[in-house]
Amino acid sequence: MGIPTRHFDALIIGAGGAGLNAALQLAGADLRVAVVSKVFPTRSHTVAAQGGVNAALANVLPDSWHWHMFDTVKGSDYLGDQDAIEFMCREAIPTVYELEHAGVPFSRLDDGKIYQRAFGGQSQNFGGDQAARTCAAADRTGHAILHTLYQQNIRARTHFFDEFFAIDLVRDAEGVICGALVLEIETGEPLLIESKATLLATGGWGQVFRTTSNAHINTGDGAAMALRAGIPLMDMEFFQFHPTGIAGKGMLITEGTRGEGGYLINKDGERFMERYAPRAKDLASRDVVSRAIVTEVKEGRGCGENGDYVMLKLDHLGEAVISKRLPGIRESSQIFAGVDPVIEPIPVFPTAHYAMGGIPTDRFGRVAMPAGHGSEEVVVGLYAAGECACASVHGANRLGGNSLLDILVFGRLAGKDIIEYVRENPYQRTVDSASLEQAMGRLRRWEHKGEGPTVQQLRADFRKCMEDHAGVFRTEEIMAEGYNKLCELRDRLPEVRLTDQSKVFNTARIEALELENMMDVGMSIAVSALHRQESRGAHSRPDYPARDDQTWLKHSLYYREGDRMDYKPVRTKPLTVESFPPKERVY
Ligand code: FUM
Repeated sequence: MGIPTRHFDALIIGAGGAGLNAALQLAGADLRVAVVSKVFPTRSHTVAAQGGVNAALANVLPDSWHWHMFDTVKGSDYLGDQDAIEFMCREAIPTVYELEHAGVPFSRLDDGKIYQRAFGGQSQNFGGDQAARTCAAADRTGHAILHTLYQQNIRARTHFFDEFFAIDLVRDAEGVICGALVLEIETGEPLLIESKATLLATGGWGQVFRTTSNAHINTGDGAAMALRAGIPLMDMEFFQFHPTGIAGKGMLITEGTRGEGGYLINKDGERFMERYAPRAKDLASRDVVSRAIVTEVKEGRGCGENGDYVMLKLDHLGEAVISKRLPGIRESSQIFAGVDPVIEPIPVFPTAHYAMGGIPTDRFGRVAMPAGHGSEEVVVGLYAAGECACASVHGANRLGGNSLLDILVFGRLAGKDIIEYVRENPYQRTVDSASLEQAMGRLRRWEHKGEGPTVQQLRADFRKCMEDHAGVFRTEEIMAEGYNKLCELRDRLPEVRLTDQSKVFNTARIEALELENMMDVGMSIAVSALHRQESRGAHSRPDYPARDDQTWLKHSLYYREGDRMDYKPVRTKPLTVESFPPKERVY
């Protein structure tokens, strides 16, 4: 019996901000667009974004897109591509107004304009006083944006496949991507979705670490699909640890808390960020603040019985400010840490938060890979946007508030480019039977019961290994040991035991498929990190403490086949303005 098949002009895998903003462009142009999501769309991880989205609206303090660009290039530790960064910072302003008009309920200033708060790494006038650039809907900005985009998509008649899991991309005989094999989670039945263009918008992979701010769904499915399709992942060694996760648990406490005037203290009550970043203090960029917290703990100034966290103090802000600007944080602190920040400080420690690297794309979301002799070619029919993609706007360290911006700007642009592509390529290509068989093979591999460790055991060992060996500080010795352990864990994967073969919810198979994805992505982080012999942004090596622009001002590319590495140059030339040359990065 053949596999049931559906046809669309465009297939979008993932229903977060990037996927939904792309879908909205496509549906608005009367294209038939399918969005596949492994959860109900409004449960996508964009819903968890708290602090806001950056745009130089200058509603609170003077601002300009050019200052935003400077901060982003500096924040990236000069690894971001300056043409893409210029583009994103310019586009930020119309993007936020478009969202406002679509109905996003932003918080308001007394004059009715969108409320903007200070976030880390923001400055006026190219490194001067603190800026206030982050447009916020209290501390639930992602929730407000995701629900608005979903509602607009419903109105535009986007076709949703809710609770369908993407297995693999499929190609025609010439290698052009022409859809994906997906699995209906409830029934366990496969479905082939054929499309003229396919966009991966599957979000990040924070779940590869044991302690993370990320939802359970963030398992790197799209990035792993790209790897299996022979596409490299770029800059994977750069993974952001957000300074303020709830200690021991990892849930996010927004940087907006520090933007509103909160600050970190150690066990002596000292405001220690003054020592690490004398000017920006608690609003230094995230890599700097996370390293400071880990150093405080390592040097014996941590709080609590085990001295393994620091405190985030907010009580001086008063109940009115906390209730108005940070209501979600108050609730999370009470539920997960048992403290009311109006009265007492919140115990915090860095938590795995965001992938700077991902599937390499140009700024139109087209997946681009090296084609020899320094040239690049696009993977025809395939796009990527959002956290799973790397348009190279974050480089080695992302600034807070630039993540929602990235998904919205590049999701929208990818949608617009797909419209052009489909107009020029109006015919559906035929899926090659070998490609389909390969995707089906992946599904069949997980129909067995297995005799080895359970998925849960292997997953726990893997996530602990990543946390222990690819964390905030990394040395050759730590990483090499981690790589060897990961190889052993990878070898155990085929024998993994599925504990629940329920035909109805089919969750055991999904967990195994997700673990396979996570392991591929985790390996790309470990190998890329081991190779980069310098400290840059979030990749911090005590054995190579300096940034080395001579050798390492280049993007890494990891290929799954043979754990192979390659490199490509950083694009330092912006679109219309002068370059920002690398210089010492101080806050
Ligand atoms: O701290 C936060 O609210 C997170 C924002 C971000 O990652 O951009």
